[in-house]
Amino acid sequence: MTQKIILITGGTGYIGSHAVVAFEQAGYQTVTIDNLSNSSLDAFDGVEKILGYRPIFRQGDIRDWDFLKGVFFEFAFDGVIHFAGLKAVGESCKKPILYHNNNVGGSIELFRIMEEYGVRHIVFSSSATVYHPDNQSPLTEDMRLGTTNPYGTTKLVIEKILEDLARDAQWSVISLRYFNPIGAHPSGYIGEIPSGIPNNLLPYIMDVAIGKRDKVLVFGDDYDTRDGTGVRDYIDVCDLVDAHISAYEYHDSGYTPINIGTGIWVSVLEMIELVQSAIDQTISYEITSRRSGDIAECYANVSLAKKLLWWTATRTIKDSIMNGWNFVSNR
Ligand code: NAD
Ligand code: UFG
Repeated sequence: MTQKIILITGGTGYIGSHAVVAFEQAGYQTVTIDNLSNSSLDAFDGVEKILGYRPIFRQGDIRDWDFLKGVFFEFAFDGVIHFAGLKAVGESCKKPILYHNNNVGGSIELFRIMEEYGVRHIVFSSSATVYHPDNQSPLTEDMRLGTTNPYGTTKLVIEKILEDLARDAQWSVISLRYFNPIGAHPSGYIGEIPSGIPNNLLPYIMDVAIGKRDKVLVFGDDYDTRDGTGVRDYIDVCDLVDAHISAYEYHDSGYTPINIGTGIWVSVLEMIELVQSAIDQTISYEITSRRSGDIAECYANVSLAKKLLWWTATRTIKDSIMNGWNFVSNR
């Protein structure tokens, strides 16, 4: 059987680099494209160490039509896993045009070239941020959509474009709505490298653990949750990329959005406690005011992923913390 070639956009990023490893190990040939705007080839060095060879990489921007044309001319793709995009919520509020241009504009160019070359099979990185903040968790895929920041709006707009495209039965489209990805590959060679001050909770806790920052700022302890702090559904990055393989192999025409989480909810204080006991180190923290735009609770109903993809998360939160810690302390 000939090996299927898949295009991975944003494949030198945090989740994309784990996906390149997982798809290669599952027997696919991957071609990664990335403009390196939020990553570097260090991630690919890590990928090479894990696999024992270097997968194909072409540097370029998904908004660059000539670049895309060159790549689609060079390789006969079976389908696309689309990670490329900017993801910082705060930055998106300051630079909405950049976010719409990069995420929406780039995706349109990508879908255009796919259509031109008859490549109509795609798995897209969406986010739980597309759910309207008034929904009550656990969130199901049919709940009301609505966003509170430009980053989230770009994800929702791209979902809508894909839904429109998939009215043509030749297209097979899955949007995976990620909850909170954490952790790293168990080898310690690839993981999350936040640029500047981490926005996300676990990378921030890790910075405190390695002594880079004094204490974790806990954004509010007056939410209507178990201990008053924000509750989220943290999904291991290796489980997350496994879900992409299952989603890719689920061939159905049309458009299907699917939650990818664990269904387990963890508060900020519980996460700090879990890290302390996993790495046997005290993590200082201070309760501060709520962060604007945050919601109290966000966790998934994961029944659809189980039903359609036969996928369920298998790693524990302790596994994710230990693998994340292994990666951070190796660096
Ligand atoms: P990341 O920033 O590590 O990876 C994204 C990659 O896309 C980067 O390597 C960046 O250089 C590349 N890129 C950005 N714009 C590009 C363009 N125009 N052309 C080519 N390459 C471009 O982010 P990640 O955490 O790996 O996230 C991957 C995807 O998953 C993103 O679309 C993100 O929005 C989505 N997502 C992430 C999270 C999360 O918490 N990490 C949650 C939900 C959804
Ligand atoms: N938190 C802190 N201190 C920090 C960082 C976070 O207390 O320094 C709290 C937040 O208030 C929240 C929880 O930890 O209660 C998780 O916060 P993250 O920033 O790690 O994650 P969010 O759920 O806010 O956001 C993530 C992604 C977004 C995405 C959203 C919904 O970062 O890109 O999930 O999918 F839009």
